[in-house]
Amino acid sequence: MSAHIINGKEIAKEIYAEMSDKIKTLKEQGIVPHLSVVLVGEDPASKVYVGMKQKKADQIGLSSKTIHLPENTVEENLLGIIDELNNDDSVHGILVQLPLPKHISEPNVIKAICPDKDVDGFHPVNRGKLVSGEETFLPCTPSGIQQLLIRSGYSPERKHVVVIGRSGIVGMPFAIMMMQKKKEANATVTICHTGTRDIASFSRQADIVIVAAGRPNTLTADMVKAGAVVIDVGTNRVDDPAAKRGYRLVGDADFDGLLEKTAAITPVPGGVGPMTIAMLMVNTVKAATPI
Ligand code: GUN
Repeated sequence: MSAHIINGKEIAKEIYAEMSDKIKTLKEQGIVPHLSVVLVGEDPASKVYVGMKQKKADQIGLSSKTIHLPENTVEENLLGIIDELNNDDSVHGILVQLPLPKHISEPNVIKAICPDKDVDGFHPVNRGKLVSGEETFLPCTPSGIQQLLIRSGYSPERKHVVVIGRSGIVGMPFAIMMMQKKKEANATVTICHTGTRDIASFSRQADIVIVAAGRPNTLTADMVKAGAVVIDVGTNRVDDPAAKRGYRLVGDADFDGLLEKTAAITPVPGGVGPMTIAMLMVNTVKAATPI
């Protein structure tokens, strides 16, 4: 048996097709959803992600602009730029690419973004709404994973979902979403992290494993039960002199080893990544839609 390889690019395309009428209707009302992306510094992976976000926004007819600031930008200046974007009515969504340089406080920056424009769903007001089960901007990677599962026929409802990684961007919000008493969630959730003594003893009980640890080979075939579904959130660069760029991208899961044991698995690249971008576009359109 070889696993179903879940195609994130195809599922993202479905989502763009569903969005196109909404974007058209907004344009007829004179509204072009606008996303402002702020990038500080020269982190190569961040530059690639921001470029992909900008490109996709342009492709689907949204307006977007990337503000690229130098590495040595002081926090006060960044907060000033966010304030300008908050007060600009033509800007519907604001995204500050993380991680930020160490001298800038991420919580301060996230708190400065107007919650109504916080298309990442990271502002404490939006996090609070998420925890309370209220309508809000769902963080892009977690909601992308949820859509990936549902649309490929692996609903998390009543399943045991084990999340490896507790980051504020992926693991923590995804776990909160999955345990809610809602359609397309309602799962039993276990969160494993660097403080967990024996991750395999938990992941072997999972129907669905989400691995978002930021480390290659965090999940191997001996750590899952036969027929599990594996969602790999990792994007790690590993040196590869044979590759054109001198490196290749690998996930957090041992893809080849897991192929024979799992029912379904996401590839890296082409799994979760395209879904994160699709959900960012969904959130930007939502931010631009008058209530
Ligand atoms: N860095 C990695 N993932 C994300 C994300 O979803 N949003 C932001 N702002 N930064 C990130």
